[in-house]
Amino acid sequence: MDPYQLLEDHYETLFPCPPETVSSILPQRRTPAKAPTVLDVGCATGELCRMLCDSGCRVVGVDTSESLIVRARQAARVGSAGAKPTFRLLDIAALPAGFASGSMDAIACLGNTIAHLSFVEQVRAFLVAAKGLLAHDGILTLQFIDYSERSEGDVWNLPSIELPNHIFERSNRFSNGRIEFLLSVTNRATGESRHAIQQLLPLGRRRLIEWASASGLSLLRTFAAFDDDSPAVANGSGIVQFAHSP
Ligand SMILES: C[S@@+](CC[C@H](N)C(=O)[O-])C[C@H]1O[C@@H](n2cnc3c(N)ncnc32)[C@H](O)[C@@H]1O
Repeated sequence: MDPYQLLEDHYETLFPCPPETVSSILPQRRTPAKAPTVLDVGCATGELCRMLCDSGCRVVGVDTSESLIVRARQAARVGSAGAKPTFRLLDIAALPAGFASGSMDAIACLGNTIAHLSFVEQVRAFLVAAKGLLAHDGILTLQFIDYSERSEGDVWNLPSIELPNHIFERSNRFSNGRIEFLLSVTNRATGESRHAIQQLLPLGRRRLIEWASASGLSLLRTFAAFDDDSPAVANGSGIVQFAHSP
């Protein structure tokens, strides 16, 4: 089972989008000429898309999960630029997928979505596609887990998350060149547990920066989290931002 099917009822409670995310992913322009256009790849339930719209952006969210796209559409509301975010069922690997070259002021690929691609070649192709889609002062933001200090055979847990009615337990195993992310959700009332596995690519910051540079993107900054400007640590989540042009 796809872990997002287990998570979707609780997604925004478990992984709320910090308000700082909106200003962090947008180009800082002195005189904004028009509403920025933003592409959120792996948009899940569309929370970031709604927040961007509320801040005056035009937003497209894409995701491969049909049920998440349905939820995102249902929760969409008109933002201050007068439009709702739009959502497309689309695989990142298929980009540019008809989006016009240079049409995006910002592209967000957050929450380790990039590691969900099946092959490193798709990651490299995504970086090339993102460069092509960005406006000349556009920004690509990648938030991902740096697995570069993990080795084949490693097993590690993430802290469990306890909600009033459910417990979420998460563990990882580095096996056959992939990270196997295991999710268990236990209903406290019934004791019933459901499980799901997601295969992830063991990406690392250094390689992502190399591939982005090879795509013609230039590194802007790296930091730990949208609400924490300190440097990212190995084996943790981190954020890297790239500019379309130097
Ligand atoms: C860990 S969630 C991150 C969601 C959101 N960006 C966030 O930061 O909370 C990964 C999301 O990427 C989606 N996804 C996985 N593979 C994808 C692909 N190849 N193309 C587009 N979306 C994908 C999943 O359905 C899920 O919604």
